[in-house]
Amino acid sequence: MTRILSAVAWPYANGPRHIGHVAGIGVPSDVFSRYMRMAGHDVLMVSGTDEHGTPILVQAEAEGIAPQELADRYNRVIVDDFHQLGLTYDLFTRTTTLNHEAVVQEMFRAVHRNGYMVARTTMGAVSPSTGRTLPDRFIEGTCPLCGAEGARGDQCDHCGNQLDPIDLINPRSRINGETPKFVESEHFFLDLPALVDALAAWLKTRTNWRSNVLSFSLNLLDDVRPRAMTRDIDWGIPIPLPGWQENPGKRLYVWFDAVIGYLSASIEWARRRALATGELADAEEWRAWWCDPDAESYYFMGKDNITFHSQIWPAELLAHNGEGALGGSPGGYGRLHLPTEVVSSEFLTMEGKQFSSSRGVVIYVRDLLSRYQADALRYFIAAAGPENQDADFTWAEFKRRTNDELVAGWGNLVNRTATLIHRNLGCVPAAGVLTAADAALRTVVEAGFDEVGTAIRGQRVKAGVASAMRVVGEVNRYLAEQAPWKLAKGDDGDRSRMSDVLHCAAQAVSDCNTLLAPFLPHCAQAVDAALGFERAFGNKPVIEVVKDLDDSSRSYPVITGDYSGSPAWASVPIPAGQVVPAPSPIITKLDDSIVEEELERLRTGG
Ligand code: MF3
Ligand code: ZN
Repeated sequence: MTRILSAVAWPYANGPRHIGHVAGIGVPSDVFSRYMRMAGHDVLMVSGTDEHGTPILVQAEAEGIAPQELADRYNRVIVDDFHQLGLTYDLFTRTTTLNHEAVVQEMFRAVHRNGYMVARTTMGAVSPSTGRTLPDRFIEGTCPLCGAEGARGDQCDHCGNQLDPIDLINPRSRINGETPKFVESEHFFLDLPALVDALAAWLKTRTNWRSNVLSFSLNLLDDVRPRAMTRDIDWGIPIPLPGWQENPGKRLYVWFDAVIGYLSASIEWARRRALATGELADAEEWRAWWCDPDAESYYFMGKDNITFHSQIWPAELLAHNGEGALGGSPGGYGRLHLPTEVVSSEFLTMEGKQFSSSRGVVIYVRDLLSRYQADALRYFIAAAGPENQDADFTWAEFKRRTNDELVAGWGNLVNRTATLIHRNLGCVPAAGVLTAADAALRTVVEAGFDEVGTAIRGQRVKAGVASAMRVVGEVNRYLAEQAPWKLAKGDDGDRSRMSDVLHCAAQAVSDCNTLLAPFLPHCAQAVDAALGFERAFGNKPVIEVVKDLDDSSRSYPVITGDYSGSPAWASVPIPAGQVVPAPSPIITKLDDSIVEEELERLRTGG
C-alpha cells in the first residue's frame, strides 16, 4: 500500500469547461485514481477551481459582475459537471477559501524567510490612455524567445515559455491596441537561479516521466531568471508582509497561489475530516501524503501547464524547505516533497479545429452530458483522448466508438450472458468441470488484471482500455464458439455443459466489469446489478455544500466522497445461485442522425 496524491490541475472558474479539459486532465486522472484505490493504495485526489488572476477579471468585466460573483457562478457549474462525469475527488474545492489564503501566505512567508523571495524594482505596463495597470495577459506582441506572433505578456503559447511583458517585441494592449507605457513598480521575485541546481538534481532523478515532459523541463533550466510572484492587480491574495498586505493594488501572482492549491486542498480535506470524526489529530492527516518520503504524487495537466508544475511549483517547495543554494529551514508544514510525476497531456481539437468559445467551436461538458451518457464520453476520452499526441473529437467517431465498441463489444456481451442465464437457469450456475477452452479463457482474463493495471499505473489510459476491450473481445469469441444457446435445446443439447459455459461466461463478464470499472464507473454499477449482485459497486462522488472553515458566513459546494469501499482489482468468484434478472441495455445505442444534428448545432450555435 502506497499513499498516492492525485493532484489534478485546477480549471479557471471563468466559464463552463469544454470537453478538451476533461479529456486531457479530468478523466485520465480519475481513471488513474480509481484504479489505484482498487489496487489497494491510499489515494488522496484533490483539485478545485482556480479563481484569481486576470482570466477571472477579464471575464467578470465581460459579464459585468464582480470577480467573486463570476467565480461563484462557474465554480458551481464546474462542480456539477465534474460530479456528473463521476470524477472521484476526495476534495474538489476552490482558491477563494480562507484556508487556501492562509496556506498560500504561510508558504510565501517561509519562502521569503529563507531568502528566496526578493524585492526588486521593475518596469510595469500601464495604459497611457487610462493610467491603469495593464495585466500581463492584456499585452501581446512578438515572443522574444521564439519569434512567434501573438505571444501574451505572461506566456508564449507557441514555445511554452513564461515571459515578462517588457521583453515582448512590439508590445501592444489587447484592449485597445495602444503601446503600453512601462513605469517603475516594486515586486517580489522567486529567486530561481538560487534554486536551479536543486531543481536540476531533482529532475535528474525523474526517469519515469514521459520523455517530452522531462526534456521540456530540463530545457527550462538552461535559462532561469528570477520570476515575479506579485502583480499590480486588485484581485488575488494579499502579500503577507508589513507595508504590502494593506496595499490594495498589489496581489500575489495567480500561479504562485494556484499551485499551492494542491497543498491547501489536502489540508482542507484533513481539517474537514477532523470536524467529521471529532478527532483533532485527523487535521494533520494530510502530512502522510506530503511529508512521508514513501508517499508518491502524480500531477495531471495539459501541456501548457508543464512549466508551472515542473519548475515553479517544485521551486516553491524547495524554497519553502530551505533546499536551494541559500539554505534555510522548512516552514511550518515541514519538509514537503516534490512531484513524483508530472503527467501532461496534449490538446484536443474538435472536428479538426481548435476549441474556441468565441467562434462557436465548442462542446461544453454539461451540454454533452445532457444528451449522452457520461460513460460514453469517458470511453471516448480513454480510448481516443490526447494522451500522447493531439487528438480530434468528431461526432462521427463518438458515435462509432459508442456503437461499435461500447455497445456492440461490451454492452451486448453483458446482455447476452445475462439473458442466457436468466432464460435458461434463472440464476448463476455453480462452476463445473473446466475444458481446455474454459481454462484458456480464464488465463486471458486473469492476465488482463496485470496488463490493464500496469498500463494505468504508468498513466497509459489508452493502452489500459484497449487491453480491457481485448479481453472483452476474447470473451465474446468464447461465447460464439461455445454457443451455449445450442446446448440449451435440440438434439445436441447438453444442459450440463451449457451450465458450465454460462458459469465461465458470468465469471468472465464479472471480471471484465472490474477491468472496465476505472473507465466506465456508471456502467460498472449497472453491469454488476445485471449479474444479480445487490450492492454498491465502486465509487460515487457526492456534492456537499459546506461552510468555509474559517468564515461560517460563506458556503460553497465541494465534490467529495468515501471511496473506502472500492472493489478489489482482482478476479472475485461470482457466487452460484445468485438470481439474474431479465437485463435491460446498459449503454444506449446512438442513432445515426445524431452526427448531423450535432454538426448542425455546431454550425448554428444551438
Ligand atoms: N487554471 C490553470 C489553467 O487552466 C491551471 C492551474 S493548475 C494549478 O491553465 F496547478 F495551478 F492548480
Ligand atoms: Zn515563444
